[in-house]
Amino acid sequence: MKLLVINGVNLNLTGRREQGIYGTETLSDIESELAAFAKEHGHTAEFFQSNVEGELCTAIQNAEGLFDGIVLNAGAYSHYSYAIRDAIAAVKVPVVEVHMSNVHAREEFRKKSVLTEVCKGEVLGFGKISYFLAMESFWL
Ligand code: DQA
Repeated sequence: MKLLVINGVNLNLTGRREQGIYGTETLSDIESELAAFAKEHGHTAEFFQSNVEGELCTAIQNAEGLFDGIVLNAGAYSHYSYAIRDAIAAVKVPVVEVHMSNVHAREEFRKKSVLTEVCKGEVLGFGKISYFLAMESFWL
């Protein structure tokens, strides 16, 4: 299985920003661990991060036909990006939404994701482990 892990806005600062919430490992540390995890299980993973909403939409559009699934942490865009929602709905490739933090235990605006309804599923609240669980949901 070929999976694409997409991280959205501000996720490039993982390991530096709000360490009490997002931990101290950098995004590239986590990506390396995810690549190894996929490989161990006979799969491959590629990675993309952007702070730009349209680039995230393009990455989702371009995944069609190339990837079997997408693991997506859109960051704050999850809460209001109808453009990303429409991109997910437009492609046949299944998307699993990820959040490192438990968004339901935080500010009110984080409790709603406009992406969840068009995603295959959602994993949240387990820190970096959320990505691993989302990834393995494609092959378990
Ligand atoms: C996040 C949660 C979002 O509310 C926030 O804007 C992020 C990260 C998470 O991984 O917990 O940037 O998606």
